[in-house]
Amino acid sequence: MYKRFYGLQRNPFEITPDPSFLFTTKKHNEALAALYYGVRRHKGFVVMTGEVGTGKTLLVRCLLQLLNQSKVAYAYVFNPRLSPVEFLQYIVGDFGLPVAGKSKSELLLQLGTFVISRYQKGLTTVLVVDEAHHVSAEVLEEIRLLTNLETTKEKLLQILLVGQPELDDILDSVHLRQLKQRIAIRPRLDPLDLTETQAYVYRRLQKAGSTDPATIFPMETILEIHAHSRGIPRLINTICETALIQGYANQTRAVTPAMVEEIAIDFRLNIMHVASSRENSLQDESSEVRQAARTLLDLYSQLRRAEPVTDDIGMPISTRTSKNEPYI
Ligand SMILES: Nc1ncnc2c1ncn2[C@@H]1O[C@H](COP(=O)(O)OP(=O)(O)OP(=O)(O)O)[C@@H](O)[C@H]1O
Ligand SMILES: [Mg+2]
Repeated sequence: MYKRFYGLQRNPFEITPDPSFLFTTKKHNEALAALYYGVRRHKGFVVMTGEVGTGKTLLVRCLLQLLNQSKVAYAYVFNPRLSPVEFLQYIVGDFGLPVAGKSKSELLLQLGTFVISRYQKGLTTVLVVDEAHHVSAEVLEEIRLLTNLETTKEKLLQILLVGQPELDDILDSVHLRQLKQRIAIRPRLDPLDLTETQAYVYRRLQKAGSTDPATIFPMETILEIHAHSRGIPRLINTICETALIQGYANQTRAVTPAMVEEIAIDFRLNIMHVASSRENSLQDESSEVRQAARTLLDLYSQLRRAEPVTDDIGMPISTRTSKNEPYI
């Protein structure tokens, strides 16, 4: 509804991951290149992590678009809260193979035959698991077994796990060390810095048809957007989209820092900051307590040094091992 007012042809800040809006920061570029390289060079097992809303699914979609151009077959699991059998059924079905009435071993056999026959024709086969931090230990074990589909030279099935930073912790657990050792490439996405945030906002506006993004979002407003979003693209989109709607409602073409501040309050974006400052103050409190305890202990040992400790019938208890050592 605001498009004509701002001279746009489309909405610039949709929160669905649309590859045509990809803004390539150094990290996003490196990660996409790593994913592509890992798949094309048959590296086997690739794990990409990143904070919530930093663009992981978007990059996966960009990768799949690139792979579509080169006869790569892929199964894409985007809701991995499945049992091991459901997981296998899903990927076999997504590869276009029959699933109905098949036992687990038949599914595995079918998948293996499919992957090998593609490999023999020089074709690449990929399994992508998004939201992989939700995958159960049992399904991770199935994934590990799938990494065993290999020749002496290379992996036959390329596996890409994508998830939030918790995935790193999961893969660090002792019982998954076999899987962890198989990771060939491990890109990570970070939030945007201030300069990237500015370029990101302007790029999206330009992509949507704006010829003068700096008038809509001046630098002082970008500063505020970066502070409240902490550089997380999904939050940047939410703030900017809401700001455009409000600007249109008030017939103000330039979004002000105050408008962004208000949006951040409405969306409770600062709650995390409050929580972490509360955490900080708890940390401060606990370090004060530790300091106080240390002082008491010092005082206590000084007192003990001054007065030898006696047992309950008044005899001194000497725990000294040498003359000059204090009582302890
Ligand atoms: N580099 C980028 N260029 C353009 N848009 C981006 C970029 N990174 C993220 N976005 C946008 O941010 C939003 C969130 O991205 P996406 O859904 O890919 O994040 P995610 O990391 O998969 O989040 P989650 O952890 O919740 O799954 C989307 O609208 C996406 O288009
Ligand atoms: Mg995602």
